[in-house]
Formats: sequence, structure tokens, C-alpha cells
Amino acid sequence: MSLWTLKGQFKGGGRNDLSEWGGHWHTETAAPGCYGTAMPTDPNPPLRTPRLRLDPQVAGHAEAMLKVLADPRVHLYIPSDPPTDLTALRARYERLESRRSTDGHELWLNWTVFADSAVIGTMQATVNVAEGVAEVAYVFGPLSWGQGYATEAMRALLDFLHTGLGLTRFRAHLDTRNAASARLAERLGFVRVAELKGADEFKGVVSDEYVYELHSPVPPAQT
Ligand SMILES: CC(C)(COP(=O)(O)OP(=O)(O)OC[C@H]1O[C@@H](n2cnc3c(N)ncnc32)[C@H](O)[C@@H]1OP(=O)(O)O)[C@@H](O)C(=O)NCCC(=O)NCCS
Repeated sequence: MSLWTLKGQFKGGGRNDLSEWGGHWHTETAAPGCYGTAMPTDPNPPLRTPRLRLDPQVAGHAEAMLKVLADPRVHLYIPSDPPTDLTALRARYERLESRRSTDGHELWLNWTVFADSAVIGTMQATVNVAEGVAEVAYVFGPLSWGQGYATEAMRALLDFLHTGLGLTRFRAHLDTRNAASARLAERLGFVRVAELKGADEFKGVVSDEYVYELHSPVPPAQT
């Protein structure tokens, strides 16, 4: 998934890419003044739901996330493999704490999701400020699947992006084989708007992608 754009963000280096555990990364600081002073609120605050705590992702979450990401099933339909280098993952999370791209044009927002005190997954929003579009992505560990946690967490994220940041357009790219992700996107109210043939190639397979979009207001909860 550039869910990274659900899938889009996976492809490129140096992006807010959930699959880029330890690869190349831009280290320059963001260009000042593009939107930083105009942003009306903390764009990456802690969020709560009835069952979950969504904390701004920080380097200190890397050790727990390494365990969540260790299961190969997590990576079936995304280009990444289970990360093995804790130092690299920690360094990546530390860089992402800037919450923005090096050119200042995108917000790179990441949350770590907790159920009780256990880390169960991560969610991402890459916000193109000029276009007012947020590309969202999500990865949860198999132990948490099938309980509605991803739905609950993503609904809170979309609600914050809309009511907190004023965004009205959301997009996700996902591998056409990823049925659980498609069900989640549709449960959240996303609508499939395109199919991209041969959009990606990883793990020896050429894959197709769906593009999903959601325009606010986010629909009410439905399971
Ligand atoms: C995509 C992913 C997050 C979906 O996880 P999930 O467990 O299916 O999603 P949820 O946590 O919202 O759970 C929904 C499921 O729990 C069930 N459920 C149980 N209790 C529920 C509740 N209270 N509320 C909502 N759903 C509930 C739903 O019926 C649904 O099952 P179904 O899809 O078989 O109908 C997960 O498969 C994943 O992380 N995969 C690996 C990474 C990945 O591929 N990410 C997406 C890249 S595009």
C-alpha cells in the first residue's frame, strides 16, 4: 500500500511511509513558514476512543511496534517485510516526530494505537496542505484483528482530521487482494473510485491497486 496512500506511501523513499522501516530518509529540517504558523491546532494530538488510546507516535514506541510488525501476515499485501533493526525503526520514528515533510508541504502525522496498555498498531495521515487531501494508512497486528479496533481507531482519526484540521477529502490506496483493508475502508465510508492495473511490484508479484476516497462528513458508525 502506497494505504500508504494506503499503498502509495510505501513506494517512495524519504516519505511518510509506513513500510520504510530503515531505509533512506531526508534529514533536513522542514522549510519554515509554509503552513506551520497557520495550523490552528496541534496536528498530531493524543486521541481517545471508548476502547483505545491513540498516542502521537514517538521513537519510544519502536520496540513495541517491532513486535507488532514481526508477524509476516502483516506484510502480505504491502511492500515491507518484518523489520529486524530496532535502531533503524527507532531512528525512523524519531525523524517522523518532525510531523512534516522536509519541504514543508505535507503534514506527516502518525499515531501509535494502544488497547489497554498494549500497542496494537499504527495509523498514518499524510496531509497535502495545499490540496487539502489526507492520504491515510493503517497497520494492526494480527492479535488485534477481527475486533473492530482498526475501525474504531480510524473513525477517530478521520473525525479529528475533519473537525480538528478542517480536512474534507481523504484517500487511500490498497492492494486489490487486501480484502480486509477494502472492507475496513468501505466500513468507514470510503468509496472505490479507481483501479490501477500493475500499480506496484513487490515480492515477485505485479499488483493492482484500488483507490478509495471519502469526502466529509464522515458517515456515522456502522459495522
Ligand atoms: C487492514 C486491517 C487493519 C483490517 O483489520 P480488521 O481486524 O479486519 O479491522 P477491524 O479491527 O476494524 O475489525 C473489523 C472486523 O472485526 C469485526 N468486528 C468485531 N467486533 C467489531 C466491532 N465492535 N466493530 C467493528 N467491527 C467488529 C468486523 O465484523 C470485521 O470483521 P470482517 O471484516 O470479517 O467483517 C488489518 O487486516 C491489517 O492491519 N492488515 C495488515 C496491514 C495492512 O494490510 N494494512 C492495510 C494496507 S492497505
